[in-house]
Amino acid sequence: MTHPQRDLIAALRSDLTAAGFTVSALSGLWGQDADAALHRNQRVPALRALTQLRRTLGRSTPTATLAELFVLGLPVPPALLAEALPTLGLQGASELRLISSVSERDESVRPTADLRPYSFIDQLGVGSWWIVSDLGELSLGHAVGEDHVLGVGGASLTLSGLMIQRPVEAALDLGTGCGIQAMHAARHARRVVATDISARALDIAALNAELNGFENIEFRLGSLFEPVADETFDQIVSNPPFVITPRAEGVPSYEYRDGGMVGDALVQHVMRHASDYLAPGGIAQSLGNWEYTHEKDGLDRVNGWLDDSPALVVDAWVIERDVQHIFEYAETWIRDGGTTPASPEFDRLYGAWLNDFEHRGVERVGFGYVLLRRPDAASSVASAAPLRRLEQLHGPLGGSGSGLGAHLAECLDGHDWQASRSDAELASSTLVVASDVTVERHYWPGDDDPTAMILRQGGGFGRQTPVDTGLAALVGACDGELSVGAICGALAQLLSVDERALEAELLPLVRSLLDDAILLPTTAS
Ligand SMILES: C[S@@+](CC[C@H](N)C(=O)[O-])C[C@H]1O[C@@H](n2cnc3c(N)ncnc32)[C@H](O)[C@@H]1O
Repeated sequence: MTHPQRDLIAALRSDLTAAGFTVSALSGLWGQDADAALHRNQRVPALRALTQLRRTLGRSTPTATLAELFVLGLPVPPALLAEALPTLGLQGASELRLISSVSERDESVRPTADLRPYSFIDQLGVGSWWIVSDLGELSLGHAVGEDHVLGVGGASLTLSGLMIQRPVEAALDLGTGCGIQAMHAARHARRVVATDISARALDIAALNAELNGFENIEFRLGSLFEPVADETFDQIVSNPPFVITPRAEGVPSYEYRDGGMVGDALVQHVMRHASDYLAPGGIAQSLGNWEYTHEKDGLDRVNGWLDDSPALVVDAWVIERDVQHIFEYAETWIRDGGTTPASPEFDRLYGAWLNDFEHRGVERVGFGYVLLRRPDAASSVASAAPLRRLEQLHGPLGGSGSGLGAHLAECLDGHDWQASRSDAELASSTLVVASDVTVERHYWPGDDDPTAMILRQGGGFGRQTPVDTGLAALVGACDGELSVGAICGALAQLLSVDERALEAELLPLVRSLLDDAILLPTTAS
């Protein structure tokens, strides 16, 4: 689909390129500390840096003008903006609804949209785009409206980093907002369908797609899976409106974060139905919140949703990254909606949140990642039991610059490989240790033998897996030459234990190291 205002958008693209309106240019203008302040919604340091720059140069620059207007949300003189957007012009910018309309008498022009550069490194390389979204609280000077269209936030970056980027035919981005996930998916999918319940969001997303040169994204209006009924996709990604919001009079319902259901029902809905829209072998990746009640642990509830699923039995991997007490949860989201603490309104909303949680017996709220995969009858793992992995990984992640997506794919490959092999086949296979894995040994002072050994994963989830002498020795000997069985045999001799018993003890542990991509098979299939 091409945007109806294609020529204007092309003019904007050309002006932004000529101005060098990039992430690094902005950091260069005001420095990393001012960048960090902006992330905390504070623009004073950045503004002071721009003023200083103009004083030094004796003039403004196009990037400084665009940054002041579209990133800091402040008015600028029309003549300066005309200089920064020579091809688009003020009239064009107003037609694209980036600025308010300007007359000759006006001394300043105000932004009506946020427009900022965005850069990333993903599994396909580095990239740099511009993202239009609604003005945020900082630019508006007050809370955002209930129909606010979000820019790229923390959750957006989390999901785009998690996205598995293997080539696929068709991908779905459910709840596309400004279109950020759809554009990431459009880098590896031949075609992408991006849906949203908000027509305004779809307009903005379509503008962003056009601005950044994407022609393979189709935009559809509708709730949840309605716009794609009867279709299947190789990949579904969704950063859905998962924030738990009291359904009470006078509590704002922000479209960008609240799906209008009670408690965590929207996350449950997405999880229970995503597989209906997956092609065989297709993968759905989403973010979500789940409630911990008096009676049930959050991940147990999520497991129950999977059991209740009316659809196919799917592979499921749920990773809980954080749990918040309900007080902290309420505070976070009331503040996020633009209500400041210590105000009567804040206290009123706080009460509404706690009433809602109390009513349903909720004590804490978990946050995490959900990955579902529809089985593929044609694959070698089709006969294996479905993957059902629910785990709490609350610690820091490992350091992988291009996100977790590649790691997730590698773990699924490792799982499929081991799940499709009998113990005898696994024993006759050769493995290697992943290059990001090191072993840490702890000794009591004066002892020659370690008292504890830990395998540390440098990337991925930064797992720390305690291992005993036998497993540590096996992992250390996995050099791609000796088979697992041969290593077990040699170890049994060395440790003077029964070879069969040692193998029976170690093979399940080897399987789980393959699931975590700590050990890797030397043959792919
Ligand atoms: C948290 S935002 C995510 C935006 C974007 N995908 C991202 O990752 O930044 C959730 C989006 O879901 C949309 N949404 C809300 N309710 C929806 C529904 N019932 N069906 C589809 N989309 C919905 C909102 O309008 C919003 O754009």
